[in-house]
Amino acid sequence: MATTHEVGDGLRVRLRLARPSDGELVRAFLETLSPETRHRRFFSPMPGERMVRHFTFFDPRERLIVMAAAMTEGNEQIAGIADVALLGTGVAEVAVVVDDQFQHQGVGKLLTEVIASLAVHQGATHLRAQLLEHNAPMLRLMERLGRTVRTVADGNTEVTTRLTAAQGRAT
Ligand SMILES: CC(C)(COP(=O)(O)OP(=O)(O)OC[C@H]1O[C@@H](n2cnc3c(N)ncnc32)[C@H](O)[C@@H]1OP(=O)(O)O)[C@@H](O)C(=O)NCCC(=O)NCCS
Repeated sequence: MATTHEVGDGLRVRLRLARPSDGELVRAFLETLSPETRHRRFFSPMPGERMVRHFTFFDPRERLIVMAAAMTEGNEQIAGIADVALLGTGVAEVAVVVDDQFQHQGVGKLLTEVIASLAVHQGATHLRAQLLEHNAPMLRLMERLGRTVRTVADGNTEVTTRLTAAQGRAT
């Protein structure tokens, strides 16, 4: 995982696990997200300090946070964050958010591939995502990973993708 990946438009990002010292980077990332992107990921207009802690303090036996970091003018900037919670039932729940200026360049694809791989390593057989509404890019990212089933209830969409052992060899 800890190598540099080239995604679309020559953008280079480094994937790594988040750490407690990332608070400032995470705060800056959350502040620049558009209202729509925030809403789709956090179901709320402005995620606060609780979300900063969520992204920077975690028990790796229960949850992993992976960051895609871009170098801009010599400084590290977060391009996207994915988190995966291991539910212990063979299901891992994933959520992803990519900074608006970095969307459509393959950052989401890179993050979800690594998350799928980490989830398989931890014994998951399925990856699940909760979507607020129809969310074509996220659905596409899940479908790329494997056979995907979508269920809709009360306007919310749940997407479940079957993982394969081969995905565990990708990290
Ligand atoms: C969902 C999200 C993470 C995708 O990140 P991204 O970096 O833009 O994703 P990528 O560029 O890697 O790939 C997106 C895929 O969706 C496809 N896509 C984009 N817009 C689409 C649309 N309107 N309809 C269908 N497919 C679409 C892209 O073509 C691409 O698929 P491809 O590689 O097969 O061509 C990003 O849009 C985001 O942060 N959204 C807000 C938060 C959110 O919705 N999170 C999901 C809920 S947890």
